[in-house]
Amino acid sequence: MNNLDVLIWVAFPYAAAASFFIGHIIRYRYDQYGWTSRSSQTYENKWLRWGSPLFHYGMLAVIAGHIIGLLIPREWLDFIGIDDHIYHLGATWLGTAAAAITVIGMILLLIRRGAVKRVFKVTTTMDVVMYVFLFATIAFGTLAVVQFQVLGAGYDYRGSVSPWIRSLILMQPNVALMAGVPLAFQLHVITATALFAIWPFTRLIHVLSVPIWYLFRPYVVYRSRDKHLGARKPRPGWERSVRPGQNEWAEYPHKEKV
Ligand code: HEM
Repeated sequence: MNNLDVLIWVAFPYAAAASFFIGHIIRYRYDQYGWTSRSSQTYENKWLRWGSPLFHYGMLAVIAGHIIGLLIPREWLDFIGIDDHIYHLGATWLGTAAAAITVIGMILLLIRRGAVKRVFKVTTTMDVVMYVFLFATIAFGTLAVVQFQVLGAGYDYRGSVSPWIRSLILMQPNVALMAGVPLAFQLHVITATALFAIWPFTRLIHVLSVPIWYLFRPYVVYRSRDKHLGARKPRPGWERSVRPGQNEWAEYPHKEKV
Protein backbone atom coordinates (compact mmCIF):
# COMPACT_ATOMS: atom_id res chain seq x y z
CA MET A 1 0.00 0.00 0.00
CA ASN A 2 1.48 3.36 -1.01
CA ASN A 3 0.43 7.01 -1.48
CA LEU A 4 -1.00 6.29 -4.92
CA ASP A 5 -3.30 3.67 -3.38
CA VAL A 6 -4.51 6.22 -0.81
CA LEU A 7 -5.12 8.72 -3.61
CA ILE A 8 -7.07 6.26 -5.79
CA TRP A 9 -9.01 4.33 -3.13
CA VAL A 10 -9.67 7.07 -0.54
CA ALA A 11 -9.16 10.65 -1.78
CA PHE A 12 -10.65 10.11 -5.24
CA PRO A 13 -13.87 8.38 -4.06
CA TYR A 14 -14.50 11.03 -1.36
CA ALA A 15 -13.84 13.84 -3.86
CA ALA A 16 -16.23 12.15 -6.32
CA ALA A 17 -18.87 11.76 -3.59
CA ALA A 18 -18.52 15.46 -2.70
CA SER A 19 -18.86 16.42 -6.36
CA PHE A 20 -21.92 14.14 -6.69
CA PHE A 21 -23.80 15.55 -3.67
CA ILE A 22 -22.75 19.21 -3.95
CA GLY A 23 -23.32 19.12 -7.73
CA HIS A 24 -26.90 17.92 -7.23
CA ILE A 25 -27.56 20.62 -4.62
CA ILE A 26 -26.13 23.36 -6.88
CA ARG A 27 -28.16 22.24 -9.88
CA TYR A 28 -31.29 21.95 -7.76
CA ARG A 29 -30.85 25.47 -6.42
CA TYR A 30 -29.72 27.23 -9.58
CA ASP A 31 -30.70 25.13 -12.60
CA GLN A 32 -34.00 23.34 -12.06
CA TYR A 33 -35.02 23.95 -15.69
CA GLY A 34 -31.92 22.04 -16.78
CA TRP A 35 -32.84 19.07 -14.55
CA THR A 36 -33.81 16.80 -17.41
CA SER A 37 -32.70 13.83 -19.49
CA ARG A 38 -32.98 16.10 -22.56
CA SER A 39 -34.99 13.43 -24.35
CA SER A 40 -34.36 13.15 -28.09
CA GLN A 41 -37.46 11.05 -28.71
CA THR A 42 -39.00 13.63 -31.05
CA TYR A 43 -35.94 13.37 -33.34
CA GLU A 44 -35.90 9.59 -33.63
CA ASN A 45 -38.01 6.85 -32.10
CA LYS A 46 -37.35 3.55 -33.92
CA TRP A 47 -33.91 2.81 -32.40
CA LEU A 48 -34.87 4.49 -29.15
CA ARG A 49 -37.92 2.25 -28.71
CA TRP A 50 -35.61 -0.78 -28.44
CA GLY A 51 -32.41 0.71 -27.07
CA SER A 52 -33.87 2.72 -24.22
CA PRO A 53 -35.97 0.01 -22.46
CA LEU A 54 -33.20 -2.59 -22.91
CA PHE A 55 -30.62 -0.24 -21.39
CA HIS A 56 -32.85 1.01 -18.55
CA TYR A 57 -34.34 -2.36 -17.50
CA GLY A 58 -30.86 -3.93 -17.75
CA MET A 59 -29.45 -1.15 -15.55
CA LEU A 60 -32.23 -1.62 -12.96
CA ALA A 61 -31.18 -5.29 -12.63
CA VAL A 62 -27.48 -4.27 -12.47
CA ILE A 63 -28.22 -1.73 -9.72
CA ALA A 64 -30.19 -4.34 -7.72
CA GLY A 65 -27.21 -6.72 -8.07
CA HIS A 66 -24.78 -4.02 -6.87
CA ILE A 67 -26.89 -3.28 -3.79
CA ILE A 68 -27.04 -6.99 -2.88
CA GLY A 69 -23.39 -7.76 -3.67
CA LEU A 70 -21.72 -4.59 -2.38
CA LEU A 71 -23.82 -3.19 0.44
CA ILE A 72 -25.28 -6.29 2.14
CA PRO A 73 -22.62 -8.17 4.15
CA ARG A 74 -22.13 -11.84 3.27
CA GLU A 75 -23.16 -12.90 6.83
CA TRP A 76 -26.58 -11.26 6.50
CA LEU A 77 -27.31 -13.11 3.25
CA ASP A 78 -26.01 -16.35 4.85
CA PHE A 79 -28.47 -15.78 7.69
CA ILE A 80 -31.45 -15.82 5.31
CA GLY A 81 -30.17 -18.95 3.53
CA ILE A 82 -28.24 -17.42 0.62
CA ASP A 83 -24.86 -19.10 1.06
CA ASP A 84 -21.72 -18.48 -1.03
CA HIS A 85 -22.63 -21.11 -3.63
CA ILE A 86 -26.16 -19.80 -4.24
CA TYR A 87 -24.91 -16.20 -4.27
CA HIS A 88 -22.18 -17.00 -6.77
CA LEU A 89 -24.59 -18.80 -9.13
CA GLY A 90 -27.14 -15.97 -8.96
CA ALA A 91 -24.59 -13.16 -9.29
CA THR A 92 -22.82 -14.86 -12.20
CA TRP A 93 -25.80 -15.83 -14.34
CA LEU A 94 -28.28 -13.08 -13.45
CA GLY A 95 -25.36 -10.60 -13.52
CA THR A 96 -24.29 -11.80 -16.97
CA ALA A 97 -27.87 -11.65 -18.29
CA ALA A 98 -28.30 -8.12 -16.87
CA ALA A 99 -24.95 -7.09 -18.36
CA ALA A 100 -25.88 -8.51 -21.80
CA ILE A 101 -29.22 -6.65 -21.87
CA THR A 102 -27.57 -3.41 -20.72
CA VAL A 103 -24.72 -3.67 -23.24
CA ILE A 104 -27.08 -4.43 -26.17
CA GLY A 105 -29.27 -1.45 -25.16
CA MET A 106 -26.25 0.82 -24.79
CA ILE A 107 -24.84 -0.20 -28.19
CA LEU A 108 -28.21 0.53 -29.87
CA LEU A 109 -28.32 3.95 -28.18
CA LEU A 110 -24.73 4.74 -29.19
CA ILE A 111 -25.28 3.69 -32.83
CA ARG A 112 -28.42 5.84 -32.89
CA ARG A 113 -26.58 8.83 -31.49
CA GLY A 114 -23.79 8.53 -34.06
CA ALA A 115 -25.81 7.50 -37.11
CA VAL A 116 -28.98 9.59 -36.83
CA LYS A 117 -28.00 13.07 -37.95
CA ARG A 118 -30.64 14.92 -35.96
CA VAL A 119 -29.68 13.12 -32.74
CA PHE A 120 -25.96 13.61 -33.41
CA LYS A 121 -26.54 17.33 -33.86
CA VAL A 122 -28.08 17.76 -30.41
CA THR A 123 -25.22 15.82 -28.72
CA THR A 124 -23.09 18.08 -26.52
CA THR A 125 -19.44 17.72 -25.50
CA MET A 126 -20.60 16.80 -21.99
CA ASP A 127 -22.76 14.01 -23.49
CA VAL A 128 -19.65 12.60 -25.19
CA VAL A 129 -17.60 12.77 -21.95
CA MET A 130 -20.46 11.09 -20.06
CA TYR A 131 -20.78 8.33 -22.69
CA VAL A 132 -17.04 7.61 -22.52
CA PHE A 133 -17.17 7.00 -18.75
CA LEU A 134 -20.53 5.20 -18.88
CA PHE A 135 -19.31 2.91 -21.65
CA ALA A 136 -15.97 2.26 -19.89
CA THR A 137 -17.68 1.51 -16.56
CA ILE A 138 -20.16 -0.93 -18.10
CA ALA A 139 -17.51 -2.52 -20.35
CA PHE A 140 -15.03 -3.12 -17.47
CA GLY A 141 -17.83 -4.43 -15.19
CA THR A 142 -18.95 -6.86 -17.87
CA LEU A 143 -15.33 -7.85 -18.62
CA ALA A 144 -14.71 -8.55 -14.92
CA VAL A 145 -17.77 -10.80 -14.65
CA VAL A 146 -17.02 -12.70 -17.87
CA GLN A 147 -13.26 -13.04 -17.25
CA PHE A 148 -13.42 -14.11 -13.61
CA GLN A 149 -16.89 -15.46 -12.86
CA VAL A 150 -18.01 -17.03 -16.16
CA LEU A 151 -14.71 -18.19 -17.68
CA GLY A 152 -12.45 -18.20 -14.61
CA ALA A 153 -12.61 -19.92 -11.25
CA GLY A 154 -14.52 -17.01 -9.68
CA TYR A 155 -13.17 -14.00 -7.81
CA ASP A 156 -14.48 -13.33 -4.29
CA TYR A 157 -15.07 -9.56 -4.49
CA ARG A 158 -17.28 -9.84 -1.40
CA GLY A 159 -14.02 -10.26 0.53
CA SER A 160 -12.38 -7.10 -0.92
CA VAL A 161 -14.40 -4.63 -3.06
CA SER A 162 -17.59 -4.93 -0.98
CA PRO A 163 -16.02 -4.34 2.49
CA TRP A 164 -13.89 -1.55 0.92
CA ILE A 165 -16.93 0.39 -0.27
CA ARG A 166 -18.66 -0.15 3.09
CA SER A 167 -15.51 1.09 4.87
CA LEU A 168 -15.76 4.33 2.86
CA ILE A 169 -19.45 4.75 3.71
CA LEU A 170 -18.68 4.20 7.40
CA MET A 171 -15.87 6.80 7.19
CA GLN A 172 -13.23 4.22 8.14
CA PRO A 173 -11.48 3.75 4.80
CA ASN A 174 -9.54 0.52 4.39
CA VAL A 175 -7.15 1.00 1.45
CA ALA A 176 -5.46 -2.38 1.78
CA LEU A 177 -8.65 -4.15 0.68
CA MET A 178 -8.41 -2.73 -2.86
CA ALA A 179 -4.65 -3.01 -3.39
CA GLY A 180 -4.62 -6.63 -4.62
CA VAL A 181 -7.93 -6.66 -6.53
CA PRO A 182 -7.71 -7.87 -10.20
CA LEU A 183 -7.20 -5.10 -12.76
CA ALA A 184 -10.60 -5.42 -14.51
CA PHE A 185 -12.40 -4.82 -11.18
CA GLN A 186 -10.05 -1.95 -10.30
CA LEU A 187 -10.61 -0.24 -13.65
CA HIS A 188 -14.36 -0.78 -13.28
CA VAL A 189 -14.37 0.92 -9.88
CA ILE A 190 -12.12 3.81 -11.02
CA THR A 191 -14.24 4.59 -14.11
CA ALA A 192 -17.44 4.28 -12.03
CA THR A 193 -15.99 6.73 -9.47
CA ALA A 194 -15.17 9.21 -12.26
CA LEU A 195 -18.70 8.77 -13.60
CA PHE A 196 -20.14 9.64 -10.17
CA ALA A 197 -17.93 12.76 -10.07
CA ILE A 198 -19.31 14.16 -13.34
CA TRP A 199 -22.85 12.73 -12.86
CA PRO A 200 -24.73 15.88 -11.72
CA PHE A 201 -23.26 17.92 -14.59
CA THR A 202 -24.57 15.56 -17.25
CA ARG A 203 -27.97 14.37 -18.45
CA LEU A 204 -27.63 11.55 -15.88
CA ILE A 205 -29.03 14.09 -13.41
CA HIS A 206 -32.49 12.81 -14.38
CA VAL A 207 -31.80 9.53 -12.52
CA LEU A 208 -32.19 11.15 -9.11
CA SER A 209 -35.76 12.13 -9.91
CA VAL A 210 -36.53 8.37 -9.82
CA PRO A 211 -39.72 8.58 -11.86
CA ILE A 212 -40.73 4.97 -11.04
CA TRP A 213 -44.30 5.60 -12.25
CA TYR A 214 -42.79 6.62 -15.60
CA LEU A 215 -42.10 2.97 -16.41
CA PHE A 216 -45.79 2.15 -16.23
CA ARG A 217 -47.36 5.34 -17.54
CA PRO A 218 -49.27 5.33 -20.83
CA TYR A 219 -47.46 6.57 -23.93
CA VAL A 220 -47.35 10.26 -24.63
CA VAL A 221 -49.11 10.77 -27.94
CA TYR A 222 -47.36 13.09 -30.37
CA ARG A 223 -49.65 14.44 -33.09
CA SER A 224 -48.73 16.31 -36.22
CA ARG A 225 -49.85 19.89 -36.27
CA ASP A 226 -53.34 20.43 -37.60
CA LYS A 227 -54.82 23.48 -39.23
CA HIS A 228 -56.94 23.70 -36.10
CA LEU A 229 -55.11 24.20 -32.84
CA GLY A 230 -56.82 21.20 -31.27
CA ALA A 231 -59.10 18.43 -32.43
CA ARG A 232 -62.01 20.87 -32.39
CA LYS A 233 -62.52 24.21 -34.02
CA PRO A 234 -61.18 26.95 -31.82
CA ARG A 235 -63.91 28.66 -29.86
CA PRO A 236 -64.41 32.41 -29.94
CA GLY A 237 -61.97 34.03 -27.61
CA TRP A 238 -59.52 31.11 -27.84
CA GLU A 239 -58.09 31.68 -31.30
CA ARG A 240 -54.34 32.01 -31.70
CA SER A 241 -53.31 35.60 -32.05
CA VAL A 242 -52.33 36.55 -35.59
CA ARG A 243 -48.86 37.90 -36.27
CA PRO A 244 -48.58 41.10 -38.34
CA GLY A 245 -48.59 40.30 -42.05
CA GLN A 246 -50.00 36.82 -41.52
CA ASN A 247 -53.04 35.76 -43.53
CA GLU A 248 -55.48 34.87 -40.81
CA TRP A 249 -58.00 33.26 -43.17
CA ALA A 250 -55.44 30.92 -44.76
CA GLU A 251 -54.64 29.54 -41.32
CA TYR A 252 -58.28 29.10 -40.28
CA PRO A 253 -60.04 27.97 -43.46
CA HIS A 254 -63.13 26.88 -41.52
CA LYS A 255 -63.64 30.39 -40.24
CA GLU A 256 -66.10 32.55 -42.11
CA LYS A 257 -65.46 36.17 -42.86
CA VAL A 258 -68.01 38.47 -41.29
C1 HEM B 1 -17.89 2.39 -7.13
C2 HEM B 1 -18.99 1.82 -7.56
C3 HEM B 1 -19.03 0.43 -8.12
C4 HEM B 1 -18.47 -0.72 -7.64
C5 HEM B 1 -17.63 -0.89 -6.37
C6 HEM B 1 -18.82 -1.80 -8.56
C7 HEM B 1 -18.47 -3.13 -8.43
C8 HEM B 1 -18.83 -4.16 -9.29
C9 HEM B 1 -18.53 -5.54 -9.09
C10 HEM B 1 -17.82 -6.14 -7.88
C11 HEM B 1 -19.04 -6.22 -10.17
C12 HEM B 1 -18.99 -7.74 -10.39
C13 HEM B 1 -20.34 -8.33 -10.04
C14 HEM B 1 -20.44 -9.81 -10.24
O1 HEM B 1 -19.44 -10.46 -10.52
O2 HEM B 1 -21.53 -10.34 -10.08
C15 HEM B 1 -19.63 -5.27 -11.05
C16 HEM B 1 -20.25 -5.57 -12.25
C17 HEM B 1 -20.86 -4.65 -13.07
N1 HEM B 1 -20.98 -3.31 -12.85
FE1 HEM B 1 -20.30 -2.29 -11.23
N2 HEM B 1 -19.59 -1.27 -9.58
C18 HEM B 1 -19.74 0.08 -9.35
C19 HEM B 1 -20.44 0.98 -10.13
C20 HEM B 1 -21.06 0.69 -11.32
C21 HEM B 1 -21.75 1.64 -12.16
C22 HEM B 1 -21.94 3.13 -11.82
C23 HEM B 1 -22.20 0.96 -13.26
C24 HEM B 1 -22.97 1.43 -14.45
C25 HEM B 1 -23.18 2.65 -14.79
C26 HEM B 1 -21.80 -0.42 -13.12
C27 HEM B 1 -22.05 -1.42 -14.05
C28 HEM B 1 -21.68 -2.74 -13.91
C29 HEM B 1 -22.02 -3.78 -14.86
C30 HEM B 1 -22.82 -3.60 -16.16
C31 HEM B 1 -21.51 -4.98 -14.35
C32 HEM B 1 -21.62 -6.37 -14.97
C33 HEM B 1 -23.00 -6.96 -14.67
C34 HEM B 1 -23.26 -7.23 -13.21
O3 HEM B 1 -22.58 -8.05 -12.62
O4 HEM B 1 -24.17 -6.59 -12.67
N3 HEM B 1 -21.11 -0.55 -11.93
N4 HEM B 1 -19.51 -4.01 -10.48
